[in-house]
Amino acid sequence: MVAMSAAELKVVPREGGFGAEVTGIDLRRSLPGNVVEPLEEAFARHGVLWFPDQPLDHDQLEAFTLNFGEFGEDPYVAPLAARPHILEVRREPDETASPFGAAWHSDWSFQATPPKATILHAKVVPPTGGDTLYADGVAAYEALSPAFRAMIASLRALHSAGRPYGEAGFYAKEEGRKGMTILPSANADQVWPHPLVRTQQRTGARALFVNPIYTIGIEGFTSEESIALLGYLYRHMTQDRFVYRHQWAPNMLTMWDNRRLLHNATGGYDGCLRLMHRTTVAGEVPI
Ligand code: SIN
Repeated sequence: MVAMSAAELKVVPREGGFGAEVTGIDLRRSLPGNVVEPLEEAFARHGVLWFPDQPLDHDQLEAFTLNFGEFGEDPYVAPLAARPHILEVRREPDETASPFGAAWHSDWSFQATPPKATILHAKVVPPTGGDTLYADGVAAYEALSPAFRAMIASLRALHSAGRPYGEAGFYAKEEGRKGMTILPSANADQVWPHPLVRTQQRTGARALFVNPIYTIGIEGFTSEESIALLGYLYRHMTQDRFVYRHQWAPNMLTMWDNRRLLHNATGGYDGCLRLMHRTTVAGEVPI
């Protein structure tokens, strides 16, 4: 597998929705510009791309990531030693804590410029369980009635890392985590507003941009009003018709678009190790 021209790149969309498998490419080698551009196009079109059989070391994972932009900033989780841009998403066989990322979210949506992409490289995959779910915020937006879309068009949602990463947050209180070091902080309680409906930079498509982990309300709404509208949107966005269940294999690399998708790490593999390496690509101010 040494093909490295755009002509040999094979992008096979998933039947019935977003997502595509990419083959005909060796991610261990530096990618020529005429391959990066079609990958960017496929990423914008399909939202999540997976590349089977890509045995990468740390340098190769970092080099692949930098094809798509600068590294994102990854707070509140200790990175790999001497690799500040790689997080090890690790759950030990005897771990009792929930899997990292086990609720619907868009990575670091509380940042002023949340990451464009997250890249996850599978090192050890359990024999069953450990799938990642993705929900398509564009399809969910487009399924809303024109009247509802008009009603939410100018709303801004408030995002914060406080619930999971604050000093009184979920991770500060949990017990039984072994594979990862979470770093709760008072900074996590800062609040950042973003448009509730976000325009995709490359395609112009619009996506719902709220998630139950980091979105804490809607600007100008009472708490009850926020809970009611956000609750409806989360139920709407995570219906089966908008969700893809991604199954991993060792050495598979998957990259997803945080500007459009929610994701959710599932469990079901107690007694087995699951080990992934993760980078992010910096994004832009949501509009
Ligand atoms: C994450 O939320 O980044 C983790 C996803 C996964 O481990 O499947």
